[in-house]
Amino acid sequence: MTAHTAARHMAARDMEAPGVRIRDLTVVYKTPAGELPAVRGVDLTLAPGTITGVVGESGSGKSTLAFSLLNAVQPPGRIAAGSVEIDGLGDVLALRGEDLRRARGREVGYVFQAAQNSLNPLKTIGKQLLDLGRSHDVEDLRALVRDARDLLARMGMDGARVLDSYQHELSGGMRQRVGIMLALVLNAKVVVLDEPTTALDMITQATILRIIREVHEERALTTLVITHDPTTSPSCTAGGSSSTGR
Ligand SMILES: Nc1ncnc2c1ncn2[C@@H]1O[C@H](COP(=O)(O)OP(=O)(O)OP(=O)(O)O)[C@@H](O)[C@H]1O
Ligand SMILES: [Mg+2]
Repeated sequence: MTAHTAARHMAARDMEAPGVRIRDLTVVYKTPAGELPAVRGVDLTLAPGTITGVVGESGSGKSTLAFSLLNAVQPPGRIAAGSVEIDGLGDVLALRGEDLRRARGREVGYVFQAAQNSLNPLKTIGKQLLDLGRSHDVEDLRALVRDARDLLARMGMDGARVLDSYQHELSGGMRQRVGIMLALVLNAKVVVLDEPTTALDMITQATILRIIREVHEERALTTLVITHDPTTSPSCTAGGSSSTGR
């Protein structure tokens, strides 16, 4: 897979964005044939305030890389080597328990692949939003709901209605946008989006990518967008590359 970074001129606000340094990252999956590397010796630097697109074919280890950024690789997977340093957080791979739980969502916002299928079917989106806010000790829940409505409106939806809905009342594309809202709403400074536009039609894809870029700039984020489709990668001014297991 390949990484492309769009460098931005460093405005004062960009100074707040954290840098991310992935070093010599190797992740293996246990299989009947032994442990096979999905990510092998990857180095990737996300400079503060940049938006980086990682493009690679199916099975090249993109999602495994995304999970690693949150120290969320699940068995039969295992991070076998390397480090993921995030400014202000340290090595994410060394975080455990409560520290790790707090970092996920609050420090590192994320949309995992197929996020449209990961909502709770038994609770409205608004209830899940409040749960998320409470689990991260958000004091002003009203402001959280307001921000969520605004983000949803920017993505072309009736925010109040979406928050009152259950996931089965929303289309796949709407659920995907809800996932993006949930990734952004806690104001994390590092955001990881794994195939954020796959379930969307072309026009909606373009809109969502524009909004991701806008929010990225407004909030001075450090953003990683993963995609198998180079046309949906953020525009590139500088390139870097990394190779994975296969
Ligand atoms: N739970 C698992 N058990 C065994 N192998 C796995 C598991 N998850 C992923 N792998 C393997 O690790 C490799 C990388 O998978 P990963 O999902 O990270 O790729 P990807 O680039 O995100 O693919 P896609 O574009 O299809 O989303 C693949 O070869 C896959 O078969
Ligand atoms: Mg994937």
